[in-house]
Amino acid sequence: MSGTITRVGVVGGGQMGAGIAEVCARAGLHTVVCEADATAARRARERVTASLERAVQRGKLDRPSAEDALTRLAFTAGLDDLADRHLVIEAVVENTDAKTEVFAALDKIVQDPGAILATNTSAIPVMRLGMATQRADHVLGLHFFNPVPVLPLVEVVPSLHTAARTVTAVETFARDTLGKTTIRSQDRTGFVVNALLIPYLLSAVRMAESGFATAADVDAGMELGCAHPMGPLKLADLIGLDTVVAIAQSLYEEFREPLYAPPPLLRRMVEAGLLGRKTGRGFHTYDRDREAR
Ligand code: CAA
Repeated sequence: MSGTITRVGVVGGGQMGAGIAEVCARAGLHTVVCEADATAARRARERVTASLERAVQRGKLDRPSAEDALTRLAFTAGLDDLADRHLVIEAVVENTDAKTEVFAALDKIVQDPGAILATNTSAIPVMRLGMATQRADHVLGLHFFNPVPVLPLVEVVPSLHTAARTVTAVETFARDTLGKTTIRSQDRTGFVVNALLIPYLLSAVRMAESGFATAADVDAGMELGCAHPMGPLKLADLIGLDTVVAIAQSLYEEFREPLYAPPPLLRRMVEAGLLGRKTGRGFHTYDRDREAR
């Protein structure tokens, strides 16, 4: 990447992709969000609009700035619309095939040979995605935390092929343009945060599964006894139980440690479509504004 990053693309407009697009647009960047089809693109726009509205209601953003941010956002169902981007951040489902396909396509579409392709994966080796392109030196992990507009951290993850100047450019961008704090991790499944967080969440699931304590008491224990902003089962619901299983499975495959193995209850809940907040029911139930009941 020779010049400054001003044109950003985000692939995937789910809770992570929409959050990433929102912080980019709020930072003054022209941002194109690509979704699978027109309906998903419309939902992505609704997600960003709702979050900007929340920021205005909570006094974090004035209304003209929220409106300005929306004018810098475009939503599309065609990856070709990302051809002129300086940086593209992939935030599709945690599935190696899906992500590899996106990287192979972006490599052909994004025209600037210096453009950087980043992944928001938390579990899939960055190297694998870099190898799907002809520019592995310009590919790296850029892992945000949910809710993206609220949490200040970004993990920066170079693969063995990532060039030092790619890492520096992205760290400077995340820090100076987006206002985030960065930490660096080696390209190991889970990076720093999820390698610590996921075994904790799985322990909480095992507690609830065995009847050791109820989900409500597990959460109250950590919120009131350790001042965590939300208990582990509410947090699992926020992340999405399908995502928790996908990350746990990847961690287990990488390290072969039993503490990473997803417990049966978690798998059954995912099979049952009880995915947490996004479906209205996980370890807790949620009404339409997604507050835990
Ligand atoms: N834009 C800007 N600010 C916003 C906002 C938005 N859209 N929505 C909320 N906020 C602000 C609020 O104004 C408030 O700020 P103050 O404390 O300064 O007043 C703050 O965020 C908290 O918001 P709320 O009062 O609405 O809600 P809350 O107090 O119930 O907190 C929460 C909600 C932010 C989700 C909090 O419970 C929390 O931080 N939970 C932990 C989340 C966490 O651990 N996330 C990491 C998940 S792991 C991950 O993402 C990685 C992965 O790969 C799985």
